[in-house]
This record gives sequence, structure tokens and C-alpha cells, in this order.
Amino acid sequence: MKLNETRALVTGGGRGMGKAFVQSFKDAGAAVFTCDVNPVEGGTIADVSNEEDVVRLFAEAEEALGGPVNCLVNNAGIIRDGLLVKKDKETGEVRAFSTKKWQQVIDVNLTGPFLCMRQFAQRCLETETRPAVAINMSSISRSGNAGQTNYAAAKAGLVADTVLWAKELARYDIRVAAIAPGFIRTPMVESMPPHALERALKPVPMRRLGEPEEIFSAIRFIVECGYFTGRVVEVDGGLRL
Ligand SMILES: NC(=O)c1ccc[n+]([C@@H]2O[C@H](COP(=O)([O-])OP(=O)(O)OC[C@H]3O[C@@H](n4cnc5c(N)ncnc54)[C@H](O)[C@@H]3O)[C@@H](O)[C@H]2O)c1
Repeated sequence: MKLNETRALVTGGGRGMGKAFVQSFKDAGAAVFTCDVNPVEGGTIADVSNEEDVVRLFAEAEEALGGPVNCLVNNAGIIRDGLLVKKDKETGEVRAFSTKKWQQVIDVNLTGPFLCMRQFAQRCLETETRPAVAINMSSISRSGNAGQTNYAAAKAGLVADTVLWAKELARYDIRVAAIAPGFIRTPMVESMPPHALERALKPVPMRRLGEPEEIFSAIRFIVECGYFTGRVVEVDGGLRL
């Protein structure tokens, strides 16, 4: 599939990588629609973790794109970091990671892509849309980044589902792949305290943040390579966690 043949839906297009992806799809001549929890240009307000929102999102996207979505980018995501337990050196008090933060990240980063993927696949089958491709934004953190109990679980789970969705959907000419970025220049990363960011970049062989456009190169590859499915493209400047 060529990029200019896609009717693309990018979730979380209000800022960061999603916003850059929307622009890059446009620049490549694709039809593109997006959503965010905040008002967003070229899209609608929708929460990917809400089933009703997701059904409405796909209906609105179909209308705006002039046909069913044939390229889904499951990009929307959040972080709510913290250690599983932490003992205060002075008081001895033990603080435990919040169940609410666990659930928020699982809802947006794992249930969200599931709901969008299910609706995408359902509409592809109902409308005989083929070929089609879905791209899930995982993360280098999926291998078990300390401080990210919730995020690592969601991003690892998303890769497992990428593999099985690819197996289940190949017969319908739907491919499913994932991208695992390292540290990319977006508000999510730029909100890290400077000392934490500096520490995070030290072990990166490329010694810099990646750019959203460099992640879009992976999207282009996945869209265009008709034999690529069920696998993860790692774009992390050579970092291993
Ligand atoms: N930035 C990085 O270094 C990095 C690294 C690895 C993976 N990722 C992943 O890439 C994706 C994009 O990251 P980013 O850095 O651009 O993040 P970001 O925080 O800059 O942007 C995420 C966007 O998603 C939106 N969003 C949040 N919850 C939503 C919901 N429930 N429904 C719809 N939209 C929602 C936000 O409002 C925001 O506009 C995320 O899935 C993230 O986990 C990012």
C-alpha cells in the first residue's frame, strides 16, 4: 500500500508524535483524520478508552475520509510513573504505587488500542476494505523499565496482541505491526525533569532524542512493505534497557 492510498486514522493527534504523524500523512498525499481528549484540528474529541467514543470516532472518520479507515495508527498514550513500593529513608514510611494510576495507563494504553483495533477490523470486514494496516505504538519500556509498572505492562501487552492480531487477520489482508520508540522529542519526554532526561540519554548510543519524523519513517515502511506483519520496528538510537 502506498501512503497516498491511505485513509488514515491517527489517535492522540493533538500534540507530540500524533500531531507530527497527521502532518506527515497529509504531506504524503494521504487522507487523514485524528482524535484527542482535547479539541484537535482535523479531527474530533474522543477518548480511546471509551467504547462509545471509539464507535463514534470510526463513523466520523469514515465520513471525513470519504470511505472506511484502511490505516490505523494507535498512538494515543499516557504515562503515570512511580515505583511499586518506596520506603522513606527518614520516616521509614512505605508508600505503594497507586491502583488508580495503574488503571489509568492500562485503560488508555492497552484497552484503547484494543477498542480501536476491534472497531477497525470490524469495519474492514463489514465493508470488504482490503488491504489494510494497523500500527501500534509500543515503547522500548516494554522490556521492563523501572518506575513504569503500568506503562511497561501495557506496552508489552500491546506487542503480544500485535502478534496475535496479525495471525488472526492476515486472512483478511489486514496487517498489524508495532513500533517501539526510544526517547523521542515530544511534550511527554520534554516534561521529564532535565536531570532525569540527561540521565536517560547517557546510555543512548546516538546521544540524542529521536525526532517524530524519524518514527514516521517506520510508519512509512510498515505501510509500504506488504510482507511486514506481526513484528516490532525498534527505533531507539541503539538503546537497550
Ligand atoms: N515520546 C516518547 O519518547 C515515546 C517513546 C515510546 C513510546 N511513546 C508512545 O508514543 C505515543 C505518543 O507519545 P507522545 O510522546 O507523542 O505523547 P504526548 O503526551 O506528547 O501526546 C499524546 C497525545 O495523546 C492524547 N491522549 C491521551 N489520552 C488519550 C485518550 N484517552 N484518548 C485520545 N487521546 C488521548 C493526549 O492528549 C496527547 O495529545 C504514546 O503511545 C507513547 O506511549 C512515546
